[in-house]
Amino acid sequence: MSNFVKIKNKINRFNKKLFIDGDKSLSIRWALLSSQSLKKSRSSNLLLSEDVMSTLNCLKKLGVKVKISKNFCEIIGLGLNGFKYKKNLTLNAGNSGTFGRLILGLLVHSKKEIRIKGDKSLSKRDFLRVIKPLEKFGAKFNSNYGKLPIRIQGTNNSKPIKYYENKGSAQCKSAVMFAALNTQGETIIKAKKSRDHSELLFKNLKLPIKVIKRKKHDIIKIKGKKKIPALNYKIPSDISSAAFFVVLTALSKNSQLKISNININPSRLGVFYILKLMGVKISKLNVRYYKGEKIADMIIKSTNKIKPINCPVKFNSSAIDEYLLIFLVAAKARGVSYFKNLSELNEKESPRLKWGSKILNKMGIKNIVTKDSIKIYGNPNLKIKKKIIIKKFLKDHRVFMTSVIAALSFGGDWQIFDKDSINTSFPSFLKKIRHLGAIIG
Ligand code: S3P
Repeated sequence: MSNFVKIKNKINRFNKKLFIDGDKSLSIRWALLSSQSLKKSRSSNLLLSEDVMSTLNCLKKLGVKVKISKNFCEIIGLGLNGFKYKKNLTLNAGNSGTFGRLILGLLVHSKKEIRIKGDKSLSKRDFLRVIKPLEKFGAKFNSNYGKLPIRIQGTNNSKPIKYYENKGSAQCKSAVMFAALNTQGETIIKAKKSRDHSELLFKNLKLPIKVIKRKKHDIIKIKGKKKIPALNYKIPSDISSAAFFVVLTALSKNSQLKISNININPSRLGVFYILKLMGVKISKLNVRYYKGEKIADMIIKSTNKIKPINCPVKFNSSAIDEYLLIFLVAAKARGVSYFKNLSELNEKESPRLKWGSKILNKMGIKNIVTKDSIKIYGNPNLKIKKKIIIKKFLKDHRVFMTSVIAALSFGGDWQIFDKDSINTSFPSFLKKIRHLGAIIG
């Protein structure tokens, strides 16, 4: 079967309801934390994407019992520092930066050396950012300048650390939090603001964690070596996946969409603050809390007047996975938008700041990109007539899905390769797009 899609028509007006797949960050964290409990944990609405399957498959190789059925997943873990595995084990993290980095935190005590590898995209990404703090716990690493494949050899005498996480990376913060769980004594993390799912899960499990919230960073104190209870969890829907449909609705004519059960954790909500400032009509309904996570249903309506934005950097971390989509909205604004301090975007599955600029160039939208910023000259009357081909983007799922949204919103004759990239985070993406009435070849 061909691994591309062809889109030749904008989507027609729609008025629909959608249910989005489970949150990826929470699915991976649930599996990893459950592996540290001796009790049986159960989740529903777990995202069954390739990234989460890599997580579950690797946990199985580490001796953890995993049962997946249609409506739920069960894990019986081996307790803290309890992984049981053969010599010369290699774990394949696939495309998943979250799993690849977080698992290292749980391996600071690994008795035998473990090798971690990943796909082409993951093998280009920086692991030194987690290796450095984890070495301070006492683990030993062997790698080529912090790139996969890497080898980790744990210590049986880890020491708590003080760590300043200054990139706003939830993966680095969480890897250190997981290592702290396995380490006697108090680990103290000063972390630039980033998604706080790990902190909320730790609190929910009544693990000894203290979080002091400051304006730009949090202080997190964790006392390790406590038993971890079972974690039964209903995974809410992923805001980063929902964002594709939010933007499609906003940019389409006379359309409306209701999306239910979205995780609107404030540390993930940057995309909505930014889109609202740009004039997108989004409203929340039935706001509620589930185990510390904020959940709501959302209604989005088409917008014919998009405003440009000088985007406040305070949203960078909480919108980090949605910038490609936000750039599409800026393409339709009447005026120039500016996004800055975004070097972290080039650290993702592909260099996304560069790819944002490439997609806009192909669409005929003037933009000026530097290594950490982009200026986008919006055109509210943009109509694309030409052929556009999107390929060789390291199979970055968000580049693929953003290109589909661009094709359906602005028209043109698009051919977008590496369709199977959606399987890493949002396997039902194209099915849901078709449910809204889009014609995709
Ligand atoms: C994630 C954190 C973010 C995000 C990624 C998932 C997580 O990465 O981009 O998709 O689950 O912790 P960084 O921590 O590298 O910013």
